[in-house]
Amino acid sequence: MCGIVGVALKNGFEVGPVIYECLKRLEYRGYDSVGEAAVIDGKIVVKKDKGKIDEVEHELAISRLPAPVGIGHTRWATHGAPSAENAHPHTDCLNSIAVVHNGIIENFMQLRQELEREGHSFKSRTDTEVVAHLVESYVRSGDNFVEAVRKAAKRLNGAYALAMISISDPDEIVCVRKESPLVLGTSKNGNFCASDIPAFLPRTNQVILLEDDEMAVITSEKITLFRLSDGATVLREPFTVDWSIERAVKTGYPHFMLKEIHEQPISVRNALRTHPIYLDLMALTMDRAKRIFLIACGTSNHACIAASYTFANLAKVSVTPVVASEFIDSYGALIDQDTVVLAVSQSGETADTLSAVRGARERGATILGISNSVGSTLTRLSDVYIGQNSGPEIGVAATKTFTAQVAVLTKIAIALAHKRQVLRPAELETLESAFVKLPDWLSQVLLQEDQVMRIAEKYAEKESFCYLGRGINVATALEGRLKLLELAYIPAIAYAAGESKHGFISVVEAGYPVIFVAPKDETHSKIIGNVMEMKARGARIISIIDEDDAEVGSLSDDIVRMPAGIPSSLSPIVYVVPLQFLAYQISVKRGHDPDFPRNLAKSVTVQ
Ligand code: AGP
Repeated sequence: MCGIVGVALKNGFEVGPVIYECLKRLEYRGYDSVGEAAVIDGKIVVKKDKGKIDEVEHELAISRLPAPVGIGHTRWATHGAPSAENAHPHTDCLNSIAVVHNGIIENFMQLRQELEREGHSFKSRTDTEVVAHLVESYVRSGDNFVEAVRKAAKRLNGAYALAMISISDPDEIVCVRKESPLVLGTSKNGNFCASDIPAFLPRTNQVILLEDDEMAVITSEKITLFRLSDGATVLREPFTVDWSIERAVKTGYPHFMLKEIHEQPISVRNALRTHPIYLDLMALTMDRAKRIFLIACGTSNHACIAASYTFANLAKVSVTPVVASEFIDSYGALIDQDTVVLAVSQSGETADTLSAVRGARERGATILGISNSVGSTLTRLSDVYIGQNSGPEIGVAATKTFTAQVAVLTKIAIALAHKRQVLRPAELETLESAFVKLPDWLSQVLLQEDQVMRIAEKYAEKESFCYLGRGINVATALEGRLKLLELAYIPAIAYAAGESKHGFISVVEAGYPVIFVAPKDETHSKIIGNVMEMKARGARIISIIDEDDAEVGSLSDDIVRMPAGIPSSLSPIVYVVPLQFLAYQISVKRGHDPDFPRNLAKSVTVQ
């Protein structure tokens, strides 16, 4: 997730201060580097560097850009670590075109190789730079700027919101959108494009939505919309937005956490865009290892616990998930050159995880990393890393980053299974088609928010809860419990359902709420027995079940129904969502702030 902006002002007003102000309001979308570009005296002038907006302003005075038209960008690194070269805007060989981008261009490697063969020379490691060179190559073969952008966009796979300027048409910004957000604003003083409405909301509340596969040409006088497929003009009237800036930043949600829960169809889709090269590289490394450990803390550890089932069941490989703070003390003696440590950390800066990684490196292990922060210490310590592409997560409780981590880990397990030739083609096909359906399943589950709200109202005053699951959904139960602890400050227990009769069951009395994560998979018949054990002791049964499940449904006091047909290895990604909602809603009902729970930090940088 990055923030892009384009501004075209009337009466020769200078665009620099306006772009700067818009970027400040987009900083929540990413903040590892920043840049602006405009055509000044017939030349593209770019000011950009690594760092937060105010740091780069201090260094380069980005708010001074004496031109009426320009573009800007605030970055959340995906391809290429944060650096001046990788900061946007990116330019072509002739420095005649500048581009800013939010999204992921999946076929950038093929395009880059093709363009390099044609003689283009690249300055960055980003996927975005290919766009500048691709547009340049169409312009060189005779197309005007707008047509060149249209042809270039048609060659791109993946997700993109792009804004571009050119020395050939210095009064114009050309933008194009597919699957990444881009909104347009129109006012009597000029026109705008941005990743999100808050960017320009103080200057105009007249908004036009750009749809997928559409492009727009923006000048200070007007905005013209086109269809990407054939260049035909599209007519669309602006509408009025009456949100406050604060509400607009949360896109209408009362809290960032709720916004982030709702972002999961998109963030999981973005996680699944991981380039196969990195998955294969990780699979190759793991295939050669004698021992594999998954290390992490908190929610990231729960993603690792879920993945350990998938590595066993799909790749037929034993991996050991260990909480990072225990890793070296417990397993230090086993770590050597034949060991692979896959460390997972949203922030990439968690002190316990980094200490475990450093300890493993000293003992000769190969380090693989998954992080939401490309350029973080974890990615720098890793021999190979994958960025999970979730965009910034502002709520202290991890939500969208958990589901993205499970998605990436599942992809790695499948790549390893493929390498080891232990997955039947039919199984692979089922999983691939499930990945395609995953964002839709998540969208369907988001519609259950009101049902979870009714459950939250009924149980919000309970003094304790228990979460039970079997197989891979032990991890889901653990994660649901962690959300409730963090946000509602309610003591809660999570267990493997089969283990509950070996001790926990003594706690259960009439009215005690027990939450079952119970998909209709190979664990189903056994979990029915566990539900009955709890019911017999008077527990109130709340179940997250498959929509076709009549059995657990009939034994439960309250149910949340999930779409049918989700493969077991992907079930935590979908089944955790009602548990995120439940913790959020109970927290709000009890008068807490779910975005900033007491005693917790987003990134724990002390051991
Ligand atoms: C999750 O809701 C928590 N905020 C916390 O457990 C977190 O997952 C843990 O501190 C690990 O953080 P990391 O993924 O940034 O390393």
